[in-house]
Amino acid sequence: MTDNASTMWGGRFSEATDSFVQAFTASVNFDKRLAYHDIQGSIAHATMLGACGIITDDDSQAIIDGLNQVKSEIERGEFVWKIELEDVHMNIESRLTALIGDVGKKLHTGRSRNDQVATDIRLYLRDETDKILALLKRLQTGLLDLADKHTDTIMPGFTHLQTAQPISFAHHLMAWFEMLVRDSQRFIDTRHRINQMPLGSAALAGTTYPIDRAMTAELLGFEGICQNSLDGVSDRDFAIEFASNASILMMHLSRMSEEIILWMSAQFDFVQVPDRFCTGSSIMPQKKNPDVPELVRGKTARVFGSLTTLLTLMKSQPLAYNKDNQEDKEPLFDVVDTLTGSLIAFGDMLPNLVPKADNMRQATLKGYATATDLADYLVKKGLPFRDAHEVVGRAVALGVAKGVDLAQLSLDELRQFSDLIDSDVFDCLTLEGSLNARNHIGGTAPQAVKLAIEQGRERIS
Ligand code: ARG
Repeated sequence: MTDNASTMWGGRFSEATDSFVQAFTASVNFDKRLAYHDIQGSIAHATMLGACGIITDDDSQAIIDGLNQVKSEIERGEFVWKIELEDVHMNIESRLTALIGDVGKKLHTGRSRNDQVATDIRLYLRDETDKILALLKRLQTGLLDLADKHTDTIMPGFTHLQTAQPISFAHHLMAWFEMLVRDSQRFIDTRHRINQMPLGSAALAGTTYPIDRAMTAELLGFEGICQNSLDGVSDRDFAIEFASNASILMMHLSRMSEEIILWMSAQFDFVQVPDRFCTGSSIMPQKKNPDVPELVRGKTARVFGSLTTLLTLMKSQPLAYNKDNQEDKEPLFDVVDTLTGSLIAFGDMLPNLVPKADNMRQATLKGYATATDLADYLVKKGLPFRDAHEVVGRAVALGVAKGVDLAQLSLDELRQFSDLIDSDVFDCLTLEGSLNARNHIGGTAPQAVKLAIEQGRERIS
């Protein structure tokens, strides 16, 4: 009966596990993804057991060698995963014992699968966090590079999706950049709480062996140790935080997606997305569909769903470990896969967006985007802002009636609304004038955005 989980805990049982229950309770099909981190944790644990004299140095070494052998088998694709062995932990331990004999059975001294699995997930998520941070940086760099080329490319800025004021394409991209900087900060912050070691909590109460948790933590690169054994085995806050950070990040990507999709439509026609990121229609020959942003927008739903799953999973759980926790892995893995894929796709696609500067400019000229500039002009000449607002409103109404932009009205036409208006008004009615006038931290003036890009590079370095 060596190939059955019950050999690891079956002493008090009088009948075999129901075969459906065995399959129902098994997690190996998905938690085998934690194999490398499980082995990493076990090697550190065995090292500590030897160093503390809990097992002999020879036994410790034999276990470590055996674990490395198991690892190579997995790497070579030779390892046979068995559902009867329930989960990744027992599959690996069972193979270890098959390889090195009874000494393998000493590995689990002073440890439980409860603190083992919590440790595995943290090691795994720490690595995934680092990969996500690298992908975020790649995307941020791509945005900065693209922005750098477009501080003078003018487009309409929107509120309520109605033309509001002229901005540069670079300024818009830098707004996305800011979202992504906050995302990085959140993952960096969460990493500190992921990077705490549960090992040593054992089943829930700690262990009777003279373990050295500080040593194991150091071997595994943990920056701290879970300070309460009950909390150590049951805490999944770090996973929820990770999924929450991922959800906010996906929400950002979905907003970017939505804009790219709009911009790609024939009605906006603001950007060209290279063909390699799009697909066609099997019926409509003219179609070029923005599949990548559409899918990222759609995949955001999965990540939100996983966050809700994790929150609901932990809700009302009594201390300490409960089998419920086994359900944490699939949503978490799905968050990692979905987020990673979305970041790769965006990192590839975004720097390759080609803005259609002429179309953007024409669109900006259409929507009375410099109306606020005219009001500001009048205020600077002494008119209170509310009155200026009224004057410009009437000028816009004339423009609408005539079907022309403010800059296309003659000086005489403009002066009928206020004699404060002089020929210098046309400087502030141009798109360039409007942009240049907003030259302060966070403003859309090319000079301000250039500085923001430069500083952006330092902020992510
Ligand atoms: N497969 C389990 C999980 O993912 C490992 C821990 C099981 N512990 C237990 N006492 N049944 O949570």
